[in-house]
Amino acid sequence: MNKIKHTSNFTFAGYDTVELAKKYGTPLYVLSEEIIRKKCREIKSDFLEKYENTKAVYASKAFLTMTMCKIIESEGLGLDVVSGGELYIAIKAGFPMEKIFFHGNNKSYNEIEMAISHDVGRIVVDHMDELYMIEEIAARMDKKVKILIRIAPGVEGDTHKFMSTGQKDSKFGIPLDKKSIDEVMIKVLNSEHIELMGFHFHIGSNLFDNECYVKSVEIVARLYKRLKDDFGFIAKELNTGGGYGIYYTNRDGVKPLRYYTDSIMNAVLENCKLLDLDIPSVIIEPGRWIVGEAGITLYTVGAVKDIPDVRTYVSVDGGLPDNPRPALYSAKYEAIVANKYDKEPDRYVTIAGKCCESGDILIWDLKVPEIERGDILAVLSTGAYNHSMASNYNGTPRPAVLLLGKDGERIMIERESYEDLIKRERIIF
Ligand code: LLP
Repeated sequence: MNKIKHTSNFTFAGYDTVELAKKYGTPLYVLSEEIIRKKCREIKSDFLEKYENTKAVYASKAFLTMTMCKIIESEGLGLDVVSGGELYIAIKAGFPMEKIFFHGNNKSYNEIEMAISHDVGRIVVDHMDELYMIEEIAARMDKKVKILIRIAPGVEGDTHKFMSTGQKDSKFGIPLDKKSIDEVMIKVLNSEHIELMGFHFHIGSNLFDNECYVKSVEIVARLYKRLKDDFGFIAKELNTGGGYGIYYTNRDGVKPLRYYTDSIMNAVLENCKLLDLDIPSVIIEPGRWIVGEAGITLYTVGAVKDIPDVRTYVSVDGGLPDNPRPALYSAKYEAIVANKYDKEPDRYVTIAGKCCESGDILIWDLKVPEIERGDILAVLSTGAYNHSMASNYNGTPRPAVLLLGKDGERIMIERESYEDLIKRERIIF
């Protein structure tokens, strides 16, 4: 389908969303290649080219397919993977392994072996045990593995509890106390097969305030100073994680990328000067910020149920299985009745999913024009953590992912079929 120029329907990235829904069916994830690339280019101009010795890594947990790997590779970014599965997808896409950062708070022996045998760029070590496994595997393969150590800086970002990772009481990272850190340092510095490049923190996700990054950088800089004094260790890198907030609704105080990255870089430069440290290479790891706003989900409206003096429930043909975020984090979304984009919204309704769960509500109190069965609803900013967190709950096949590109639209992932739902099953009785 060519881009539609004149329509009263809601268009996304130049495409008529009602036509897309008709052609590909709903629910349908729709991603704009142009928006993803624009975000990557903003990272390039406002961070990578602005500051020397910097790297950007896309946190693939937000949305990962082999095609996405190709886009990220062509934009010159690295990739953060957090499991053998994500690493496998990157390998299959031919992603340059030296640009991979391998994360995870409980990497298995096999996953570490897979990462080392493929020569991933960095393993981000989360705990002491992992170091022993890396040491053993690397020695056996006669390799030297470059690592970062993840720490929890003891800083809390202002976000949902489930998306907060930087606080002291966290399952992620090595505790910052002297004993824990020194134990790691002694192990690493005595290893022939491990090269410690620096440290990593990730404070949390969907953060709108840069203060927590500045504080975390200060904490790591003080740590770097102590490790220089106590061990003669000079950190070459500092990975500051991801977490930049994006637009979901007009209540979000969205900031430009440089709001985060400038404050991170200023904090790095100031603290290094103050503490007489070499300036490390600074790495950022955004996921949601790259892909979140690049995606929408199209649904078809089904049952409309008016409960007099209470509310009107408008049910759509998807919900919790394709977007668990409202149920998990009380995440808020905006949506548009795509085929009535020219009509004035004049009433409030509640958009319900079709799952057998009272908590399967996509949007409480959405202002819409008259809405009825057959209408197409476009939920915005669903590019991140929707497809990657989707499930088959209630026997729901996962939607297709459609990529809108310069040269037309292409299916990136097929819609699951009922057949797919039983593919892994063995009938035992
Ligand atoms: N780096 C590390 C080590 C991370 O753990 C994460 C996210 C990121 C980078 C990227 O964060 P982002 O820039 O995408 O905020 N399922 C939740 C988000 C969990 C994120 C976990 N880690 C959600 O739907 O909001």
